[in-house]
Amino acid sequence: MKVLPWNKDLSVGVGVIDADHKLLFNIIKQLNRALEEGQSVDKVRGYLTALTEYTDFHFAREEALMKACGYSELEEHREIHNEICSRLEQICRDFDAAPDDALNERILIFLNSWLVEHIMHRDKQYVPDMAGKDAEIATAHAPFQRFWGSGYPEHTRRPGGLTGRERRVVAMFVDLRGSTRLAEEHDAYDVVLVLNELFVELTDAIERSRGHYAQFNGDGLLALFGLEQEFGIACRQALESARDMFRRVEELNKRFAEELGDALSIGIGIHGGEAIVGMMGPPASPIVSAVGVVVNTASGLESETKKAGCMLVYSQTVADAAGIYVGDSGVYRGTKHPAHNELPVRLVRSVSELSY
Ligand SMILES: [Fe+2]
Ligand SMILES: [Fe+2]
Repeated sequence: MKVLPWNKDLSVGVGVIDADHKLLFNIIKQLNRALEEGQSVDKVRGYLTALTEYTDFHFAREEALMKACGYSELEEHREIHNEICSRLEQICRDFDAAPDDALNERILIFLNSWLVEHIMHRDKQYVPDMAGKDAEIATAHAPFQRFWGSGYPEHTRRPGGLTGRERRVVAMFVDLRGSTRLAEEHDAYDVVLVLNELFVELTDAIERSRGHYAQFNGDGLLALFGLEQEFGIACRQALESARDMFRRVEELNKRFAEELGDALSIGIGIHGGEAIVGMMGPPASPIVSAVGVVVNTASGLESETKKAGCMLVYSQTVADAAGIYVGDSGVYRGTKHPAHNELPVRLVRSVSELSY
C-alpha cells in the first residue's frame, strides 16, 4: 500500500489537529512498512498499539475542539470515530489471536479506506466551522496538552483505549567514551563513518536481544527492554545485549585500528522498575520511549562507570531478577530519590567477567 506523505492540502487550519494528523500518517507509514517487510510480530504489535493509542487521543481532542466551535455534525463525526476505534481494537485482538498474511492485508485495507480517508476527506468538513475561533480552540485544547500519562481527561477516553502506561521495564544507557577527542583528532569523514558503524552495531545488538531503541543523543542512546516481555526475561536480555555490544565494539576497534587506533569504548548503565512508557517526541518523529526515576537512575549508573573506571554498572534489582551476578558489588549514591538512595549495584570491569 502506498501511504502518501502528509501535505499541506490536508491541513484543517488548526495547528494541533494538523500535528496529530501528521503523527498518525507517520505511524501508519511505519506500520505499513513493518507489514510489507515482514518485520517481527512484536514490532508490528508495537505500531498497532501506538496507532490505537494515538488515534484514541486524537479523536478525543478533535471532538472537544469541534464541540467548542459549535460544529453541527459533531454527533455523526463522533459515531465514525467510535466505529474506527472499535475496528482498530478488533484488529489488535485478531492480531494477538493469530497474526497472519490475510490479517495483514485487512490491516492495510483498513488503514487506507478508513483512517487515511477519514483524515483526508471527513475531517475537512469541519474546517469552515473552526476558522477564526482561536480563543474557543485554545480553551478546549487546554486539557489535551500531553498525550501520555494523565495528559488528557479520563472521561473522554473510550473504553479499552490506551494512553501512555506505567510498566516495569529495563532502561539501558549506552555512552560513547572520548567522542570529543575522537572529533578533534580525526577527519570529519572518519568520525562520521565510525560513529554510524558503531550505531548500526549497537542497535543491532539491541534488536537481537529483543530490546527497543528509544532515544539517541549524539554520542549515546537509551534502549528499553521488557515492553513485551516479563521483567526477569527483560533483565537477562538487557545484560545479553550489553555483552554483545562490548564484543562488537572490540570488533570495530580491530576493523578501524589503522584509522583510529583503539579509539572506541562505551560505558553502559542498566536499571529496571516502573516507568511511564508511551509514544513521545516531536510530532514528525515520535517514538516509544520512557520517563521516570528508573530511567534517570540508569543514566546515573552509566555516568558512574566513568567515575568507577569500569565498563558496566547494573543495579542489584536487575541482577536479582535476571539471576546473573557478575562483577563486584558496590553502592550507587548518585540519586536523592528515596527508592534509589544507596542503590546496591554491580560493577563490571572487563568483557571476560560477562562470561556467565
Ligand atoms: Fe482527525
Ligand atoms: Fe475526525
